[in-house]
Amino acid sequence: MDKLKKRIADAVCSHIAGMEGVPAVPAPAEIEAALEVPPDPALGDLAFPCFRLSRTLRMAPPAIAAKLYEKLGKAPPQGVSEVSCSGGYLNFRISDAYLSGGILGEIAERGRDYGAHDFGRGKTVVLDYSSPNVAKPFHIGHLGTTVIGHSLKLLHEYAGYHCIGINHLGDWGTQFGKLIAAYRRWGDRERIEKGGVDELVALYVRVNNEIKAEEEAGKTELADASRAEFAKLEHGDAENLALWEWFKKISLAEYEKTYKQLGITFDSYNGEAFYTDKMPEQVEILREKGLLKLDNGASIVDLSAYNMPPCLILKSDGSTLYPTRDIAAAVYRKRTYHFDKCIYVTSAGQSLHFAQWFKVVELMGYDWYDELYHVPYGTVSIGGEKLATRTGNVILLRDLFAAAVEKCRSIIEEKNPSLKEKDETAEAVGVGAVIFYYLFGNRMRDINFVMDDALDFNGNTGPYAQYTYARTSSILEKAGPFEPRAEKGALEEPERDLIKTLSLFPEKTAAALEEMEPSVVTRYIIEVCNAFNRFYQACRIASCPDGDVRAFRLTLTRATHDILGRALELICMKHPDQI
Ligand code: ARG
Repeated sequence: MDKLKKRIADAVCSHIAGMEGVPAVPAPAEIEAALEVPPDPALGDLAFPCFRLSRTLRMAPPAIAAKLYEKLGKAPPQGVSEVSCSGGYLNFRISDAYLSGGILGEIAERGRDYGAHDFGRGKTVVLDYSSPNVAKPFHIGHLGTTVIGHSLKLLHEYAGYHCIGINHLGDWGTQFGKLIAAYRRWGDRERIEKGGVDELVALYVRVNNEIKAEEEAGKTELADASRAEFAKLEHGDAENLALWEWFKKISLAEYEKTYKQLGITFDSYNGEAFYTDKMPEQVEILREKGLLKLDNGASIVDLSAYNMPPCLILKSDGSTLYPTRDIAAAVYRKRTYHFDKCIYVTSAGQSLHFAQWFKVVELMGYDWYDELYHVPYGTVSIGGEKLATRTGNVILLRDLFAAAVEKCRSIIEEKNPSLKEKDETAEAVGVGAVIFYYLFGNRMRDINFVMDDALDFNGNTGPYAQYTYARTSSILEKAGPFEPRAEKGALEEPERDLIKTLSLFPEKTAAALEEMEPSVVTRYIIEVCNAFNRFYQACRIASCPDGDVRAFRLTLTRATHDILGRALELICMKHPDQI
């Protein structure tokens, strides 16, 4: 569609240039960006609102439309079969030949790569996402960073970027002192080996409660012990280091189960601990540049000139903080990966943290400070669902997925008991339903998760999208081999509409990247499904008696199959061939 839009824009511009007494000719790109889809398809497929030009041309919009129509009506740009004007709008109907032979022909040729771009070629992007805190629950608050982050990685790869996915594990900090102290008092190795991260979380919850109780009783024994254990860990005590490694291993094994369900792998698990020996250099630079100020014994960077609270670099005891690690990590990543962009996906609650240390990086004189991007997202709550909460009142990601998979299994059992790979399918559809529901709205919107809505096969949901995909698979499989054919004489309305929708794929992948919004793809998937299902209801496909039309419709079905499959993958969804 992009090429056609360009041609229309060029034609409009050249006619404006040819008008008498025109003060200024707009740039074709401006016209192209202004092209829109008319509200009523009977008017045309694309429209140019002429009021955009009325100021520059000093003419009323209907007069501009009429003038342009005079020229374009007689000689429409290539690919346009009809131009009309109504009020201040100039309308264009795309020719059937262009839609079939041209656009569908190109989709048939490029298949799953139709929405790919090459503007990322030769560039590297680092993406920091998911990043749970070891031995603390991996909860639904991490859903956003995990799926938005991974989808952004896939979208960048689709645009030709070389991507490095980093799980910046929260694997350092005083919580490990508490955990070690707790383990020494109440821990049981076997039990933890068996129970995994839940046991660690239980220990962590217990030690925090007991420290609180102690405090109320005016005692500090456990708190002191925790601090001492952390100090030992920091000084490289072998026993504590081994415990820390073990805690980390147990937590990772658990996270990896969830990552596997989502099809996510990381290129690096370098967490906060990895940067311990990389911080002193940065602290020294801060000091040399005179950026550090003492504040009650702590070292800070004053950011009042930028309307932000100070960025904390060192506590009064000299220990480092979250921003210190992020600064050291960014420098390390720049040196190691030479990134063109480094993207951090976290909840909006951390926006200030990122704004602060990005500013510090700038003040330190690193000229790549503007290659750092924070991508925030809103909060998730759970509506009307009773999910097991093994750990206080947080809902684990794992339990959310398990509940969705279980429900899905019972739907399949009821609707399609003879399905072959029930377990795998229930997992793909259940997990997919959660992802799709989550990625449907703009990322900054807070969402309330309602399981039954997410699993509704008739709503704008993952199951509906996967079901439509499975429908295309089964049509193609039943039809057997066929000779692809993109050309057809006159198109039926549902055929036109489906090709038009498919043609938008490259624009949608580009927009999703530009806005760092996977939801652009999610909503586009629904558009494709709706257009395909209308086509499926209205037109005979494999059973069409006319051989050429049959081949054309199968080609259109395959195009839908390829684009839908690729689009689902871009938002971390699997797509079984049967549901
Ligand atoms: N571990 C942090 C959390 O769970 C998120 C880390 C985000 N990445 C970063 N480089 N700060 O809140």
